[in-house]
Amino acid sequence: MIRTLAICLTVAFLAPMQGPAHSSNGIAESSLLLAQQTTQPTASDPSFGQVSAILSDSCTLCHAPPSPAGGLRLDGYAGLMKGGKSGPAVVPGNPEKSEIIRRLRGLSEPRMPMSGPPWMPEDKIMVIEQWIKAGAKEGGSTAGEQRTSVEQPMASPSAPQQVRYGQVAPIFQARCVKCHAAKGQLGPPPEGIRMDSYEAVIHGGERPIVIPGMSKASALLRSLLGQSRPRMPMDGPPYLDAAETDLIALWIDEGARDNTGKAAPLPVGSKVRLGGTLTDHWSIDGMAFEVDGKTRIKKKPAIGAYVEVRGVVNDNGAIHATEIRAR
Ligand code: HEC
Ligand code: HEC
Repeated sequence: MIRTLAICLTVAFLAPMQGPAHSSNGIAESSLLLAQQTTQPTASDPSFGQVSAILSDSCTLCHAPPSPAGGLRLDGYAGLMKGGKSGPAVVPGNPEKSEIIRRLRGLSEPRMPMSGPPWMPEDKIMVIEQWIKAGAKEGGSTAGEQRTSVEQPMASPSAPQQVRYGQVAPIFQARCVKCHAAKGQLGPPPEGIRMDSYEAVIHGGERPIVIPGMSKASALLRSLLGQSRPRMPMDGPPYLDAAETDLIALWIDEGARDNTGKAAPLPVGSKVRLGGTLTDHWSIDGMAFEVDGKTRIKKKPAIGAYVEVRGVVNDNGAIHATEIRAR
C-alpha cells in the first residue's frame, strides 16, 4: 500500500519534470491538468470495454496466458495496469509516458503488434490514448458515470460519429424480425429474443445478446459470424455480408448506442452463454475469457473443439467463466 502510493507520487511528480525545462508555473499547470484529467471522465471518454475490444483483436494472441509475451497480459484490466518486464504499460493521465502507446506508434522498439505491419490504425490508437488521458479507469465505474452524465457529442469535431441504432436497425428489420418478434414465423420469439426495438435488442432474451464494448463476447455477433451455432439468420444462407457484420460489430464495440448517441449500460453480473471454437486455454475464436479454480470444466475440451461457455459479465466487460463444456 505504502509502496503503491510512493510509486504513484513518484510518477505524478516526475512526469511533468522529464520534459524540457519547465518554469515552476508550468509544472504546477501540468500537475493540475493531470489531476483534472484523471478525476473527471466525460461522456465522450472511451470505456475500458472499448479498449479491451481493441486489445483482444490485435494483442491477446501473444499477450495472454499461458506465456504472455514480454510478461505482459493484455486480456484484462489487471494485466494491463501491472505491465510487463519493463514496467507498467500504462501511466494513467499520461499517454506519452505509457509504454503501450509508445510501442503502438513505434517510439519504443520493437513496435507492436509484433506481427505488423500492418500497424494499428490511428483511430484505434486514439481510443486507447484518450482512455489513458482520462485516467485509465476500469470499465465499470467510468461506464457508470457515462450513463448518468448529460449527453455530449464526440470530443473532436473531426472524429467520425459513432454508429447508432438507426444504422443497424434496418438489417435487423429485414433479416431477423420475421422470427424475433412477439408473434413471429415460429410463434413466440426464439429464446425470448425480440429484435424489433432498441430496448428489446439491448435487453436480449433469457440472457443478454449484446455486451456493449465487447462484440466478440456478444451472442448476437457470434451467431451472425457462425462462431456459435446455429448460425443466424436461421433461414440463411444467405447470411449477412461482411459490411453488415462489420457495422454491427462496430456498433457494439462503440457501446451499442441508441439514436441519441447514448451508450447502453454494461450488463454487469448478467449470465451469458457463448458457443465457439476453443482456440486456447482459455479463449474461443481468439476471445480470451477468465477461468479460475471454481470454473467447472466438463468433458476435457481440446483446442479446436466446439464448446459452450457459461459465465458472468464482469465489471470490466470480460466474461468470467463458470462452466466450459465440449458439445
Ligand atoms: C505476434 C506476437 C505479438 C503481438 C500480436 C503483440 N505483441 Fe506486444 N510483445 C511481443 C513480444 C515478443 C514482446 C517482447 C519484446 C521485447 O520487448 O523484447 C512484446 C512486448 C510488448 C510490450 C512491452 C512489454 C514490456 O514490459 O516489455 C508492450 C507494451 C506490448 N508488447 C504491447 C502490445 C500491444 C498493445 C499489442 C497489440 C496491438 C501487442 N503488443 C501485440 C509480441 C507480440
Ligand atoms: C427463421 C427464423 C429466424 C430468423 C430469421 C432469425 N432467427 Fe435468430 N433464432 C431463431 C431460433 C429458432 C433460435 C433458437 C436457436 C437454438 O438455440 O436452437 C434463434 C436464436 C438466436 C440467438 C440466440 C443464440 C445464442 O447463442 O444464444 C440470437 C442471438 C439470434 N437468434 C439472433 C438473430 C439475428 C441477429 C437474426 C437476424 C440477422 C436472426 N436471429 C434471425 C430463429 C431465427
